Amino acid sequence: MGGQIPRSFIDDLLARVDIVDVIDSRVPLKKAGKEYKACCPFHQEKTPSFTVSQSKQFYHCFGCGAHGSAIGFLMEYERLSFPEAVRELARELGLEVPQDAAPAATPVVDKNLFELLEQVARWYRQQLKNHPQRERAVAYLKRRGLSGEIAARYELGYAPPGWNNLERYFEPRGLLATGMLVESERQSRYDRFRDRIMFPIRNRRGQVIGFGGRVLGDEQPKYLNSPETELFHKGRELYGLYQARQSARERGILVVEGYMDVISLAQHGMTNAVATLGTAITGDHLRELIRHTPRITFCFDGDRAGEEAAWRAVETALPLVQDGLELRFLFLPQGEDPDSMIRRSGAEGFERLLEEARSLGTFFIDKLSSQADLRTLDGQARLIRLATPLLRQMPAGSLRELIVQRLAERIQLDPRNLARQLGLAGSSTVARPRGRSAAAGQRKPSAVRTAIALLLAHPELAQSAGEPARFAELELPGIQLLQELLELLQQNPNLTTGAILEHWRAREEGRYLGKLLRQEFLVPEDGVQAQFQHILEHLEKRTLEQQAERLLQKSRHGNLSSEEKQRLNTLLLALQGQAKTAESAQDSG
Ligand code: UTP
Ligand code: MN
Repeated sequence: MGGQIPRSFIDDLLARVDIVDVIDSRVPLKKAGKEYKACCPFHQEKTPSFTVSQSKQFYHCFGCGAHGSAIGFLMEYERLSFPEAVRELARELGLEVPQDAAPAATPVVDKNLFELLEQVARWYRQQLKNHPQRERAVAYLKRRGLSGEIAARYELGYAPPGWNNLERYFEPRGLLATGMLVESERQSRYDRFRDRIMFPIRNRRGQVIGFGGRVLGDEQPKYLNSPETELFHKGRELYGLYQARQSARERGILVVEGYMDVISLAQHGMTNAVATLGTAITGDHLRELIRHTPRITFCFDGDRAGEEAAWRAVETALPLVQDGLELRFLFLPQGEDPDSMIRRSGAEGFERLLEEARSLGTFFIDKLSSQADLRTLDGQARLIRLATPLLRQMPAGSLRELIVQRLAERIQLDPRNLARQLGLAGSSTVARPRGRSAAAGQRKPSAVRTAIALLLAHPELAQSAGEPARFAELELPGIQLLQELLELLQQNPNLTTGAILEHWRAREEGRYLGKLLRQEFLVPEDGVQAQFQHILEHLEKRTLEQQAERLLQKSRHGNLSSEEKQRLNTLLLALQGQAKTAESAQDSG
C-alpha cells in the first residue's frame, strides 16, 4: 500500500502536523478540557462524542468508534487512499514526499479529470435538450414515467449516436484516462457511450467520477458503466448517494440494484435510494452509508439470486454492526424491481412493503434455521456450527446478544450456555450470570493487554521499561506485540499515539490496537507509571515462573543437567524472594 513512502517520512510528518488543525479546518472543534470535541462527521448525532486529543495526536468517537491519526482522518473524511492522505498532509505542511526507488503505486488523481467529466456531463445534458435526435431519448424517459424535474435532479443526459463525438469537444488524453474513450488494438479510438441515456455518477464530494448509460431499446448490453479508473471505484461508490444525502438523515437509506430504481423511487417522492454499481455491496459501501444514517434497508428481488445477494450483504455487514445500526432486508415479489413495484403500487404501497422488511437479526436467524433441522440434536449442533464463525465476527453488543438469545430459544438452550459454546462468553451480558452487576461480571483485562493500552496512551512509559527482549520467552497472548511496541518506542521516543497506530496500519494487530485504545482511551493520567511498573514486575515474575515450570516438567520426564538444576534452584529462590517482598509489601500496605 504505502510501501513507496519511507516509514521515517510518515513518522516525521505526523510529528510535525497537528491533528487539531487538520480536523478543525474541516470539522470545527470546540475545546473541552484537555481535549477537543465536535459532533462526529462519521455518524449522525446531536451531542458531540467525537474527541480529538492534541497530546495523543489521535481522534476517537465514543459513539461510532471511528478513530485514528491525522492520516486516518483524511482517509476517512476525504475518502483518500493512504498515499493520497500522506501527500495531502505533506502539501499542507509544505513538505515534499520522498519516494523510494519503486514508482508510486497510486498516481495522484489529476484534478483536471474531475473537471473534464463535469463538462462531459454538462455536454450530455445539453444533447438531451438540443440534439436533433433528442426526441427519442425524451420519449424514452417519459415512457418510464420520469418528469423533467427528476431528470434534472439526476442530471440525466443523452449520448448521441456516432463513434467520435467527444473528441470534437474534449481532449483525448483525459477522455482515455476516464474511460470515456475506448482505444482499440489498431490505435483507433471511439466513444464508449453511444445512443444511450446517460447517468452521471458523483462521489461524496459531488465530483463526477463516471457514468452509466442505458440503451433506448432492447440492444445489449442494456447498461454500460465507466470502467474502474483512478477516479472511479465501483466497490466504493454508490449511485445516487450524493442526491440522497439530505433525505437520508430523516428517512434512512434504501439500497437498490439499478439506476432506474433510484430515479423511479425519487419520482414517487422517495428520494433516499442509492444503488450499487453492478457489484455486490462491500464493506466500504456500508461504512460510507453508516456515515449518513443508521437506518439502512436493502431491497432485493424475491428470487433465489436475491436471497443469495442478501446473505452476502449480511456477511459483509456483520463485522460492522454496532449498536444503534438498523439494517433491514426487503424482498420484493417475484419479477418485480423497486421501479416496477412503486409504479404499480405507488409510494404508499411501497411504504407498506417497507414496513415488512425483516431486520438483520430476524433474517440471520431465519436463514440459518432453514439450513438445519432443529428438531434433531444433529440439526441443533449444525445450527451452532453455522452460527459460530458469523457471530464471532460481530462486535459485542446488544444485537449480538439478541441473536444469541433468539437462537438459544430456537434450540431450547440456556442463552448463557449457548454464548459459551459460541466462544462469545465474557464480553456479553448474555454470558453473564443474572443478578450480578455489569462491572463485577466484566473480565479483568490481562496484564499484557493493560500494558499495551498504557503504552499507547502514554508512549513515554517505554523509556523506563528496560530491555524488551527479556520477555521473549514468555508465553502469554499479546506478549510479542508488547515487545515489538516497546522496541519501537525505545527507538523512536517521540511517537505519539496516532503515529504508533500508523506503524500497524497494514497489519492485523493494528485493528486490535485500535480497539484497545478505544476501550482504554480513558486510562487515568495519575499513577500510570506505578501501574506500568507493577505490570512489568508481574511479567518478569511470570517469566521466571514459566522457566521454573518448564524445568520442573522436564525433571519429571528425565534428568536435568547439573546446569539446569542450578538454574532451577536459582529460579525457585528468586521466586521465593519475590513472594516474600510481595507479602511484606502487602503487610505494610
Ligand atoms: P437490471 O437488469 O435489473 O436492470 O440491472 P434495471 O435496473 O431493472 O434496468 P431497467 O429498469 O431495465 O432500466 C440492474 C443494474 O445492474 C447493472 C446496472 O447497474 C443496472 O442498473 N447492469 C445491468 C449492468 O451494469 N449492465 C447490464 O447490462 C445490466
Ligand atoms: Mn428495472
